[in-house]
Amino acid sequence: MTSNKVPVEKRQRAQELHEILQRANYQYYVLDAPELPDAEYDRRMRELQDLEAEYPELVSADSPTQRVGAAPLTEFAEVRHQIPMLSLDNAFDDDELREFDRRVRDRLNNPDAVEYACEPKLDGIAISLLYRDGVLERAATRGDGTTGEDITQNVRTIGSVPLRLREQNVPAVLEVRGEIYMPKAGFAELNEKAREAGEKIFVNPRNAAAGSLRQLDSRVTARRPLELCAYGVGQVEGAELPEQHTAILEQLNRWGFRINKEMLVANDIDACIEYHQRLGEKREGLPYDIDGIVFKVNSIPLQRRLGFVARAPRWAMAYKFPAQEEMTELLDVEFQVGRTGAVTPVARLKPVFVGGVTVSNATLHNRDEINRLGVKIGDSVVVRRAGDVIPQVVSVVESKRPQNAREIVFPDHCPVCGSPVESTPGEAVARCSGGLICSAQRKQAIKHFASRKAMDIDGLGDKLVDQLVDEGLLHSVSGLYHLTREEVAGLERMGEKSAQNLLDALQRSKDTTLPKFLYALGIREVGEATARNLARHFGDLEPLMQASEEALQEVEDVGPVVAHFVAEFFQQTHAQEEIEALCQAGVHWEPEETGGESQPLAGQTWVLTGKLETLSRSEGKEYLQRLGAKVAGSVSAKTDAVVAGPGAGSKLNKARDLEIPVIDEEQFLEQLRDHGIEI
Ligand code: IVH
Repeated sequence: MTSNKVPVEKRQRAQELHEILQRANYQYYVLDAPELPDAEYDRRMRELQDLEAEYPELVSADSPTQRVGAAPLTEFAEVRHQIPMLSLDNAFDDDELREFDRRVRDRLNNPDAVEYACEPKLDGIAISLLYRDGVLERAATRGDGTTGEDITQNVRTIGSVPLRLREQNVPAVLEVRGEIYMPKAGFAELNEKAREAGEKIFVNPRNAAAGSLRQLDSRVTARRPLELCAYGVGQVEGAELPEQHTAILEQLNRWGFRINKEMLVANDIDACIEYHQRLGEKREGLPYDIDGIVFKVNSIPLQRRLGFVARAPRWAMAYKFPAQEEMTELLDVEFQVGRTGAVTPVARLKPVFVGGVTVSNATLHNRDEINRLGVKIGDSVVVRRAGDVIPQVVSVVESKRPQNAREIVFPDHCPVCGSPVESTPGEAVARCSGGLICSAQRKQAIKHFASRKAMDIDGLGDKLVDQLVDEGLLHSVSGLYHLTREEVAGLERMGEKSAQNLLDALQRSKDTTLPKFLYALGIREVGEATARNLARHFGDLEPLMQASEEALQEVEDVGPVVAHFVAEFFQQTHAQEEIEALCQAGVHWEPEETGGESQPLAGQTWVLTGKLETLSRSEGKEYLQRLGAKVAGSVSAKTDAVVAGPGAGSKLNKARDLEIPVIDEEQFLEQLRDHGIEI
């Protein structure tokens, strides 16, 4: 084969482009501080690809173009690890961790304390990366610890994996070990797209990472949001590494690897326990899944003295957090009817401890989800509960399906009122068509009306609403204001005193605001923010009730769908009668000031983080929104201010990095008072 001779200036240009692109990757993935705009990066990449196409000799293993994915393989080659990839022993409580520390100290002739490196245990896939003379030669999975699979082509596509080490004096051979994982946000986005496209969705970020790395076609891997975090070394030849684990990781960081920002050195086991506790509290807020903390004796000479047993080192221990996924049995499926008639299948489960609580119900979302899971009653299912998210059934263990497993039959009539259940084409939810005839919808409508952000009727809890409706004492929201003391006091578990308290609360709730009243009506797609925008735009209820869909679309954040729901709602005779009845009963509000002058924080975006003491977070949010600010859940360059209370973590750090003004609760209250809010 002949190839074009490469002119010197082309070779130089290719070299320059390597450096520019490598630096950009490092800034982006390791420093989290990109300097090269994306478009610029893409142009340089294309220039290099063109050069390499013209002069194939310029293509080298460490060229940034080699990340984009290579031709599919038929299978992965086997790789033998020179140094076995071990696993870790687990501890599940403080005592077991103290036990570990005691064993370590016993073997080291009882020093008072041993220093430990503390690192989050990332929930991903262990990887070995072999660098020869600073260039990535091979990437392999852990496999059984001795033999893994060669997934070099796939790993090359991951931006945070350096194809070449950054400094000159690098070891002749360096094996870096770490975890490849999928951040939560990337996972959510990937599944969202898969769901829209009707493709297979992944049950959790770990499975998604594993599935992405197992692709024979690395072009698929290249499109997956994977990251690498380095946590150790294997083989090293031709260089001396530092004598402390944390110092080795810092050296890896200088060579171009990401290491965990939460890594810390603890002076003794008490500090380790404290760290485990603190990270446990931060767990939900971290951008990636962790399943525990790894503690490692920090001194390498001490690690050598301690050595290994079987498959795990004596110098390290994983202290696990409560699992977020557990297996249990699906006992039954019930169908709940929501405020808008949505019929939701709810899994009744054999109670199981997962994510720190006992779970006996989980949502199955809708019919499509049931089909996708292929789940039957009696199946063993995997239930996931991460943070405050409602528990989900994520998969079925088909091999454990009992003989008598039953199909789940989606009802075609409402289980509460018997009206037909209807599905709109293109919409996954099925709805009961009974409207307010359906007592389930009525109950939900009343509960919503009474809720804190709506009419804020103290003491009218869900149970009481159920009782009132079931006893036939309450048929509509306006009926609330006609309840008598006798009626209420006559209910089970209700006395004269609590009946009077409820009537007082009902009386107080009549003095409301237009946004709260609109929100309380429970119009589809009208949340607090939309209710506020509608109120501010129209000033009072009358003009809003008369508004056409076109007029409604002039309101901030109101599109054709919401405009349609609003107009449709006010056209219903029933809704008009209810509003009339509520006003007759004495519900009233002050007209809103229209326009923007009364909104000193209009156009601003605020973030609340950490614990607030005087206010709750939702109160803080409400005040800010009243002043016209948007309240966001995460800090970005668009954030105008951050209110940080005790315990604030990554959001606070990010705000500081971006130099966004940060105030504490005291200063926040002062600002609110300055803007005329009485606290
Ligand atoms: S150290 C001999 N550090 O946990 C030391 N492992 O059960 C072995 N893992 O397969 C690993 N985060 O995939 C270490 N900061 C961390 C880790 C970590 C996650 C995984 C790793 C390994 C498994 C051990």
